[in-house]
Amino acid sequence: MIKFSFTLNPFCTCNIPKPRSKLQTVNGFFRPTAEEKAFSKTHPPFLFTKISALFLLFLCFLLYPFPAKHAVVSPCSRASRIINIIFNSPTILRWNVVGNGKGLECIYRNNYTEEEEKGVAVLSVDEYNDIQWLVRCPLPPTNFSSVVTLRSRGTITIADTTVVAMNYWENLAYEAVLDGNTAVVFVKGISHRQDKASDPNRFRCHFGFGNQNYILTSKALTAAQEVVRCALPKSLEIHPEKSQGIRATVSFQLPMRNHHHRTIFVPSVAKLSSSKFEINTPKHDLCVCTMLWNQADSIREWITYHSWLGVQKWFIYDNNSDDGIESVINKLDLEGFNVSRHVWPWIKTQEAGFSHCAIKAKSECNWVSFMDVDEFYYFPNLPGHGALRTLVSNHTSSPSIGELRTRCHSFGPSGLRSPPKNGVTVGYTCRLQRPERHKSIVRPEALDTTLMMWAKFYRRVATYVADWKDSQNEGSRDRAPGLGTEPIEPADWRLRFCEVWDTGLRDVVLANLDDVLPRGRYLGGIDI
Ligand SMILES: *[C@@H]1O[C@H](CO)[C@@H](O)[C@H](O)[C@H]1NC(C)=O
Ligand SMILES: *[C@@H]1O[C@H](CO)[C@@H](O)[C@H](O)[C@H]1NC(C)=O
Ligand SMILES: *[C@@H]1O[C@H](CO)[C@@H](O)[C@H](O)[C@H]1NC(C)=O
Ligand SMILES: *[C@@H]1O[C@H](CO)[C@@H](O)[C@H](O)[C@H]1NC(C)=O
Ligand SMILES: *[C@@H]1O[C@H](CO)[C@@H](O)[C@H](O)[C@H]1NC(C)=O
Repeated sequence: MIKFSFTLNPFCTCNIPKPRSKLQTVNGFFRPTAEEKAFSKTHPPFLFTKISALFLLFLCFLLYPFPAKHAVVSPCSRASRIINIIFNSPTILRWNVVGNGKGLECIYRNNYTEEEEKGVAVLSVDEYNDIQWLVRCPLPPTNFSSVVTLRSRGTITIADTTVVAMNYWENLAYEAVLDGNTAVVFVKGISHRQDKASDPNRFRCHFGFGNQNYILTSKALTAAQEVVRCALPKSLEIHPEKSQGIRATVSFQLPMRNHHHRTIFVPSVAKLSSSKFEINTPKHDLCVCTMLWNQADSIREWITYHSWLGVQKWFIYDNNSDDGIESVINKLDLEGFNVSRHVWPWIKTQEAGFSHCAIKAKSECNWVSFMDVDEFYYFPNLPGHGALRTLVSNHTSSPSIGELRTRCHSFGPSGLRSPPKNGVTVGYTCRLQRPERHKSIVRPEALDTTLMMWAKFYRRVATYVADWKDSQNEGSRDRAPGLGTEPIEPADWRLRFCEVWDTGLRDVVLANLDDVLPRGRYLGGIDI
């Protein structure tokens, strides 16, 4: 049995220099004094332990340091502005879908006069998986109820029973994936226990061809965090290729009076899929899973840089972006970066998304890093090109190592007033002294069957603060410290979080990747 036991930097507190006084301010931005420059040279800030090899530069707050100008709709209101709809694609619709939904309408029915209908053009259409499409509709106009159907402009009404407004589904099986001789089903609304595994005997798994037509039933093997692992029914185990596209769901017993129970079937849009990876192809050494929303501007720099460090494959889980990130990703993929995008529109399902990604990556990757688009690995003491890949692949043959950990440093706005034109790796040069949390690279094969790892070491890191006004995470360590919830930029914001002048990453990028920086060459000087 493989255990997660290995850390490169096991203790966050060893040998950390004492926090030092704030750097000197010159004309509103920070410059290192001669003494500090000398200090940085003799004390590379990341050499914490003798075995320190891996260092994660953590830029989590960097992409949002300009709240006043870059105010984004709060995540909640953003989510409630769209209605996600999943439907099975009749081939007749493909042309509509290829044209990104032009010609498709969401049809709403008047609450008071049953006959009156209103059609509104869809916001976007996405591929949900090989078999299903995701359509985004605007909220219904006043006095109209939520989407009742989709219509091809003209006359064809899409009569599809799975056309349902997903936002209103509290209970839903939304994804299912084959994993060896089990099926993993992702379900919303079956458990309120965040960190604990549930008793799998409470659940049964069902497979079939429609919401009312589940012909096969099997045992639930584990259940945790709304992820249920099911035994495969014998007939599917013998012919796994036939399971592709079969609908899956779970049922549970609802206690009633007199010791009776009622069986509740969770509604499902989840269809079984499996990894298409050729078994004979050698695995990638290192892949990355990420979950993002509207980061089209930053993703090229992030992927280019980490590919140079040795990342070979990217799984991008896209949470309803509408900034054209799809075309950026397609372009990167065409350029040979091996990037794929997966639509992941579900609310509060980030850990589930990473579990899903881990299963997908298992057949293709020896190691998977789970990270955000504003986080960068950086090695002060290793040659850069391919360094991360060499480092992780050095541990592939030690089966007792299931996780590699690094510590992270947060960079502040570094005196900037607007997002740096030369990319974040070059623009951000000032950070906090103390490392804050850790990041993990895991061996997906070593994940335990409940996929509960996230509860243990990912959960806190997982909530990304897309909006500094979002008070939901108030008090959490994932929030930039010192942020209020008032919609004004704190006066000293751009000078915050600046304790150490650290140009290590910038120097590496300028020396090695200058010509691939997203926004042209670095022109010198500091953007203030
Ligand atoms: C996607 O974004 C919405 C709106 O911000 C949020 O409520 C939801 O939890 C996000 N989903 C994931 C998986 O992060
Ligand atoms: C909604 O319906 C009510 C009751 O029929 C009506 O008074 C109101 O004007 C309607 N609002 C709109 C925007 O149509
Ligand atoms: C119309 O009906 C839907 C549910 O069918 C409800 O959610 C909505 O609030 C109603 N709208 C109005 C204006 O009554
Ligand atoms: C993309 O994947 C292929 C194999 O599937 C590999 O040969 C190639 O090096 C990868 N590209 C990058 C940039 O790592
Ligand atoms: C990987 O292992 C080789 C051989 O043991 C060693 O020379 C090299 O320094 C290691 N590289 C890293 C990045 O740990």
